[in-house]
Amino acid sequence: MIGRLPLLEDLGEIQGKRVLVRLDLNVPLGVDATGERIVTDDFRIRAAVPTLTWLLDHGAEVTACTHLGRPDGAPDPRYSVEPVRKVLSELVPGVRLLENLRFSPGEKRNDPAFVAQLVEGQDCYVNDAFGVCHRADASVVGPPKLLPSAAGRLVQREVEELGSLLEDPARPYVVIIGGAKVADKLGLLASLAAHADRLLIGGAMAFSFTRALGYDSGESLVDESKIDACGALLHERSNIVLPLDFIAAAPGVALQTGDWSTQPGAPGETGPQLAEPGEVEIVGQSVPAGWTGYDIGPATAELFGLAIAGAATVLWNGPMGVFEDRRFAGGTAAVAHAVAECAGRTVIGGGDSVAAVHRFGLADRIDHISTGGGASLELLEYGDLPGLRALRESLGWGERAGGNAGTGGDGAA
Ligand code: 3PG
Ligand code: MG
Repeated sequence: MIGRLPLLEDLGEIQGKRVLVRLDLNVPLGVDATGERIVTDDFRIRAAVPTLTWLLDHGAEVTACTHLGRPDGAPDPRYSVEPVRKVLSELVPGVRLLENLRFSPGEKRNDPAFVAQLVEGQDCYVNDAFGVCHRADASVVGPPKLLPSAAGRLVQREVEELGSLLEDPARPYVVIIGGAKVADKLGLLASLAAHADRLLIGGAMAFSFTRALGYDSGESLVDESKIDACGALLHERSNIVLPLDFIAAAPGVALQTGDWSTQPGAPGETGPQLAEPGEVEIVGQSVPAGWTGYDIGPATAELFGLAIAGAATVLWNGPMGVFEDRRFAGGTAAVAHAVAECAGRTVIGGGDSVAAVHRFGLADRIDHISTGGGASLELLEYGDLPGLRALRESLGWGERAGGNAGTGGDGAA
């Protein structure tokens, strides 16, 4: 159980007070016709509005801060927050937004001098940057040591939604995990397999599991160093469901990039219609030599769809294939539709699966879409995050919470 976090109400009277708000406005950027940098997806900016509005309505003077991308601890115009500032000022006028926190080397180093500089002149601190709560960066873990602090509305909601998956999800609880890299997610897969009724595995990470069972993977992405660990997990857990078939590309067939609408090979509702037979084919659990698996196949999409349809709780993270290429989008589309149609409670975390439900126009049919990728997964794996711990241990909160704060209940810290 995640211990009680201080909330906005716990800040007390904030009329006329200066409040520093850490947000995660790390949003995708593009360029418009004139070459100007623009925000291409404002999801995280809109998610910050309730907290900012609440603070302004209660008379606070608000200074917001965020990181944007991964600049190297020095000012870099490619990572300036200017395009974000523009969108933010349209959504919530009257909020000052500091320049990219990662322009200062002290941010990633959690340098106390940088923390002191950040909190200078501020009366309170609010963390509403859920997507970065898994990083012990200066602006995330530093200010709570020095200022009365609280979780914003987004952090509050994310912790409630994801925390309830950790505690007592309605069953059957079905988890779908995809994405390319198994190494990043092995610990998570083990903890989810222990907790969920069914763990469905798609994406390139599935090949490290099929290889552990002795199938061939052709040229598909495999983490050779993790095959044994995948095999051990399969041996330990009987509730892991692997793909029965894949969509694979022949030797020499390149992935399509760029605008979807100009690519051949639109996926159907439950499976792909293959653009060029002979170039892209449905294969079984073994991928032939020289071929590369880029998506789950239609039999797998149907199997996963049935499991999802029968679930009372669904968690989905990570695409089933390279859906940026329409020929390999069918598996991800099928899972996205199944999750959207599921009558149970549905939660999606992780940048790529969130992008997928937006692309398929299904976002409003999902109960909770997390703004955090790594943060949501680490919360599910470890039951806590550095940014949340810092809030529970924040200045004066232990005494005010009367023993409800601190280390977080069942030793979650
Ligand atoms: C994210 O987009 O995952 C968060 O903003 C965290 O960014 P980071 O992975 O660069 O720390
Ligand atoms: Mg990330």
